[in-house]
Amino acid sequence: MTDPRTLRVKLDGTRDYDIRIDAGILARTGAVLERDFGERRLFVICDPGTAAHQDTLKTSLTIAGHTVSFHDIPEGEGAKSWEEMEHTLDWLLDQKVDRRSMVIAFGGGVTGDHAGFAAAITLRGLDFVQIPTTLLAQVDSSVGGKTGINAPQGKNMIGAFHQPKLVLIDPSILITLDDRQMRAGYAEVVKHAFIRNVSFFDWLQNTNVLTRGVDVLSEAIARSCQIKADIVAADEFETGDRALLNFGHTFAHALEAACHYDRRVLHGEAVSIGMCLAFEVSARLGHCPRADADKAIRHLRELGMPTRIADIKNFPKLSSDDLLGLMTNDKKAIAGKMAFILSHGIGAAFISKDTDINVIHDVLTVSLG
Ligand SMILES: NC(=O)c1ccc[n+]([C@@H]2O[C@H](COP(=O)([O-])OP(=O)(O)OC[C@H]3O[C@@H](n4cnc5c(N)ncnc54)[C@H](O)[C@@H]3O)[C@@H](O)[C@H]2O)c1
Repeated sequence: MTDPRTLRVKLDGTRDYDIRIDAGILARTGAVLERDFGERRLFVICDPGTAAHQDTLKTSLTIAGHTVSFHDIPEGEGAKSWEEMEHTLDWLLDQKVDRRSMVIAFGGGVTGDHAGFAAAITLRGLDFVQIPTTLLAQVDSSVGGKTGINAPQGKNMIGAFHQPKLVLIDPSILITLDDRQMRAGYAEVVKHAFIRNVSFFDWLQNTNVLTRGVDVLSEAIARSCQIKADIVAADEFETGDRALLNFGHTFAHALEAACHYDRRVLHGEAVSIGMCLAFEVSARLGHCPRADADKAIRHLRELGMPTRIADIKNFPKLSSDDLLGLMTNDKKAIAGKMAFILSHGIGAAFISKDTDINVIHDVLTVSLG
């Protein structure tokens, strides 16, 4: 077993919380929660993909003396809908949750976003704990307090900032995750290196995180979470630098919308392509050395990640204009104007508010193939 690592997300002193990364911690969750929060009624919202791990969690919670109820939500992005949210809220209210009840999100990013939002709006805010079970959720979505669901008008359009009380990360749980999901999660790992830390990128180049060695995974997760925690601590509500975490995401959200959020492209895959587009735009505009852009794109390609829109099988017949239209629907657009996160080089992302749209157009056209 690796050394446990604890990182602290520092907010305003009253809502600060720990991220604990520790292989095997799932089997000790009950004791950890008992020590940190006392005996509580726990409401666990579960991803069906965690079936192989649910008994471990259940046993650990009951042995520690907690009263526990489990609720499954459907697998995939469809769980981030009003209909599914209503089921969850009904379940919570039918069980007579009270202000001391605690919601636990046990699953990938979809489950974390869904459960976190349910916790945010039930009884005007219940405590919640994130136990992320995909690589993407362990390095990104479980930290930072963004919760929400999708609307027909766009992804993550309905939501709230609601920080967890604790994030418990067990890297050994990733053993059951399939290769495609591992690679998709890796996009968010390398994103943290691209935006803030070139030495982390160098480390990633020399270390294959996708082999799932627990020590390597723990290190990659800790370094990613540290970068995210620092950025969130400095700008919790995204009035400034937190937007850097959206590197590649304006493009990614348009690709996901074009595919109707189905399995043609996973979120992390769309982010991989989006980051390549952002590097390409940055290089063409002279913001980023061409060698850095090429190195970043090559790294993703060598690990089997998609790097061009044309890599998405059965992508709809859309033009770059259509994609630009989808991008202005993104919730990060203000009065129809898009801020792009671009790069001065690996480890140095920045917010650009006046990007030449013609260059975006050209880069999209090339990527569409
Ligand atoms: N809130 C945030 O800050 C934030 C950040 C990034 C992404 N997100 C959101 O996260 C979502 C994507 O998350 P995701 O990539 O984790 O997808 P996901 O939650 O859909 O999980 C991917 C798949 O893995 C399965 N799964 C989960 N844990 C498993 C395990 N241990 N073993 C085997 N299978 C397992 C799930 O059932 C699902 O089929 C998107 O909705 C995205 O918008 C949110």
